[in-house]
Amino acid sequence: MAESLALTPQATKEERYKELLPQIKAVIEVEEDLVANLANISAMLKEAFDFFWVGFYINKEDELVLGPFQGPLACTRISFEKGVCGAVASQQRTIVVPDVNRFPGHIACSSASKSEIVVPLVVGGHTKMVLDVDSDLLDDFDETDAKYLEEVMDVVKSIHFPI
Ligand code: SME
Repeated sequence: MAESLALTPQATKEERYKELLPQIKAVIEVEEDLVANLANISAMLKEAFDFFWVGFYINKEDELVLGPFQGPLACTRISFEKGVCGAVASQQRTIVVPDVNRFPGHIACSSASKSEIVVPLVVGGHTKMVLDVDSDLLDDFDETDAKYLEEVMDVVKSIHFPI
């Protein structure tokens, strides 16, 4: 396994996602433990983009429970009825929130968080987990983040939840 990421300085966001994805795949396809892989994915996304907060909430008996992450202390449990994570888990679609203060029910784990993107991993109609990324800047996420973070979740799905 590679011990460090190969990242081109001054790459655009899309270029960086494109160089990161195969490296994420290479790291996780040789390890079968889900938590270990989610931990390394959080670390790789943090290193590549210096996100304020990036991590996973895992569905345990229809409640989202904090999983591996990088960033400040976070809420441990989120119901499917609460927050951006809950909305994504129940609606089973990616949600980009340009201004978290304008999202009804947003859960402020940190007052520094200003915008957010959450991507679900759905298997057989069942939400297994969500990937949550927070920024301390307003309007920091767009369709490029959605596209590539969904690809990250597709890689996790293909390795850990093969059909
Ligand atoms: N803001 C999220 C909660 C998780 S933290 O941001 C890490 C939400 O509204 O679901």
